[in-house]
Amino acid sequence: MPKYTAPRGTQDVLPEDQPYWRYVVERAHHIAQLYGFQQITVPMFESTGLYVRGVGEGTDIVDKEMYSFQDKGGTDITLRPEFTAGIVRSYIEHGMHTLPKPVKVYAIGPIFRYERPQAGRYRQHTQFNIEAFGESDPALDAEIMEVARHLYADLGFKGLSFQINSTGCPKCRPQYVKLLAEYYRQHEDEICEDCERRLTRNPLRVLDCKNKGCQPIIAGAPHIVEHLCDECAAHFEQLQTHLDTLGRVFTINHRLVRGLDYYSKTVFEVWAKGIGAQAAVCGGGRYDGLAELVGGSHTPGIGFGSGIERIILAMKAQNIEVPLLPKPEVLIATLGPASKQVGVKLLSDLRSADIGTVLAFGERSLKSQMREAGRQQVRFAIILGEDEIKNGQVTIRDMASRNQETVPMNSLGNWLKTRL
Ligand code: HAM
Repeated sequence: MPKYTAPRGTQDVLPEDQPYWRYVVERAHHIAQLYGFQQITVPMFESTGLYVRGVGEGTDIVDKEMYSFQDKGGTDITLRPEFTAGIVRSYIEHGMHTLPKPVKVYAIGPIFRYERPQAGRYRQHTQFNIEAFGESDPALDAEIMEVARHLYADLGFKGLSFQINSTGCPKCRPQYVKLLAEYYRQHEDEICEDCERRLTRNPLRVLDCKNKGCQPIIAGAPHIVEHLCDECAAHFEQLQTHLDTLGRVFTINHRLVRGLDYYSKTVFEVWAKGIGAQAAVCGGGRYDGLAELVGGSHTPGIGFGSGIERIILAMKAQNIEVPLLPKPEVLIATLGPASKQVGVKLLSDLRSADIGTVLAFGERSLKSQMREAGRQQVRFAIILGEDEIKNGQVTIRDMASRNQETVPMNSLGNWLKTRL
């Protein structure tokens, strides 16, 4: 028989890790709602063309990482490698431009990228993703960054680093790209093969190269923020003023260009310590040209995506604890077949009364059933012996104090409710 394992780059979230997931997702919903974002759910797959146009040919995502296939009807489909393009598609399709602006939505769900797996980098990961449409005010850029900051502060993170940059706009970026390419041409013999390719396919990405030999070249490269048009420069300036007013610490990172083509003006990332090379817990930015690119009217937009797996890795690295999930606190122990019958009925009644309860299955001694109660860490064990059944009573054992008490069967629900 073949031995099946989870596909490379995917992971099972086992019950012991679910408290982290439940807590982070619950806080993400809460913070999104606090800032006026409404939840949207979009399909996990879209037409391949949406990502090719939206995210951009020449990006790693489109060139190397998409799970694309033809469905049985011959349609080209791609499992979503990110949320933004799908949400923009939905915004256009449902005429959301008629809603009061900015239109603020958020989504949570799985994302698929055929990447080289390593710690914090998976082929299926989960994003908390927010988007705001129809407003180009830099105060909104600051607000989007505030959602991320607030969420991580709420979760108890320390030592986060906010990195920001501007990628300009179609007016000023081409001139900068030309300048960058000229600079790189002077260093043609010193750069890696990947950067040579990037220079033709996706020049801004040379700034992102991790190759050791390219680092001195990157360090000497011109900075885009020094070549922005007046509008982009003023936008970037105002964003910084807002962040300063809020007392937020940030770093202008001249190398931050992000891996998706749709960005214009603001881009940002949030880095966490202690989770290795894949330190970005959040990445986002403005994409004022994306809606037009995928068939809508001109609609400025800004948002971010934050990987929940990385958030949880960082929480664990920082020893942040989360509340445990509720579980049954009552176990019913029975002694003999007649008692088991009463037990099965009582089990059903207690659950109907919303009291989480389990039954000790099988024919077992009372001692063994009490051990089971200990293993399951319930607060109370209910013992149904022959005498108890005859008298319409149950014996309740408090598992912590070992005290026992006899209670009439018909008042058991209330007795438990006042104590649990
Ligand atoms: P992204 O930077 O590609 O941006 O992904 C956002 C976040 O998702 C990353 O910062 C990281 O936390 C997480 N992430 C990405 N890839 C992986 C992976 N392979 N394994 C684990 N976690 C990962 C976007 O996807 C943009 N759509 C964000 C955005 C929204 N920009 C504007 N609006």
